Amino acid sequence: MKKILALVLALVMVSCLFVTAHADELLKIGYVQVGHESDWRMANTQNYYDVFTKEAGFELELIDCDNDHARQLQEVRNFITKDFDYIVIDPIQEAGWDDVLKEIQEAGIPCIIADRAVAASSDLYTTAVGTNMTAEGETAGLWLEEYLAGKAAKILVIEGSTGSSAAIGRAEGFNKVAANHPEWEILASQDGDFTQNGGQAVMEDFIKRFPEFDVVVCHNDNEAYGAMDAMDAAGIKYGVDGKIIISFDATKEGLTRTLAGKILCNVECNPIQAVIVMNVINALKAGEQVEKFTLVPDEGFCAPGIESAIVTTMTDEVLAARKY
Ligand code: AHR
Repeated sequence: MKKILALVLALVMVSCLFVTAHADELLKIGYVQVGHESDWRMANTQNYYDVFTKEAGFELELIDCDNDHARQLQEVRNFITKDFDYIVIDPIQEAGWDDVLKEIQEAGIPCIIADRAVAASSDLYTTAVGTNMTAEGETAGLWLEEYLAGKAAKILVIEGSTGSSAAIGRAEGFNKVAANHPEWEILASQDGDFTQNGGQAVMEDFIKRFPEFDVVVCHNDNEAYGAMDAMDAAGIKYGVDGKIIISFDATKEGLTRTLAGKILCNVECNPIQAVIVMNVINALKAGEQVEKFTLVPDEGFCAPGIESAIVTTMTDEVLAARKY
């Protein structure tokens, strides 16, 4: 009986040791997430939770920084103090990163910039993963160029959060095309903070100030929904036989409205980025060289009935295949 008890005890101790060792092996990943401002953001957060699991060998701490740049810097410093194995930053603001990136480097922690970009030397971080926001803006501009085919247009822009690389890049790309079109007039460009409420408030203001306009460019789908609410309330028609709405993200709901002919052009920004980040981390852990930047590819879509050489015309199949 004693022998059996000793054997059971030994087995319990061995399995405890195994569990502890296994927990120690988990890579500690700190992710400072922008916030929860949009459907895109929620899909991106969920994607990180789905990918960075214990079963895959990770312990993920994801902090929602609620669009607060100072808080985001502080949370990164907390990760440094807690000696995380890898730090992933989705920067709320493009500027203001030099000091904290140097601190991460001095601590010897590999740092991955994800989704948005920082305006800092690439020597200050290990690698970056993300979409090309300037190319997204340019795609929207080129689609409008194709659609208007020389017609004049008065344009309103609802920007994403001021200072974010997503807003800066999309504006830059769109303006590059607009510069070739003296017949386009950008009446106003205002921050809608990437939220539905923000988009609605800006659009309500635009409607009062600009009784005549042809196009509304919204820097993400949620802003577009807010702009639509404002136009609905004011009795303004939009879509194939009304004002032209251009949006970014191409989320499931955004593409549903594109398929319905309400948003005429929707340029994708793919939030499913966690697997790419995980592969980069695994490569770094294995001592392999990684690219300084890994592009997350994306494409544009337009409403049915519109022929385009720039973007894909929406179909039921495209919508059915959309995961986010
Ligand atoms: O950084 C990606 C952008 O941020 C998405 O377009 C937007 O929806 C989000 O809030």
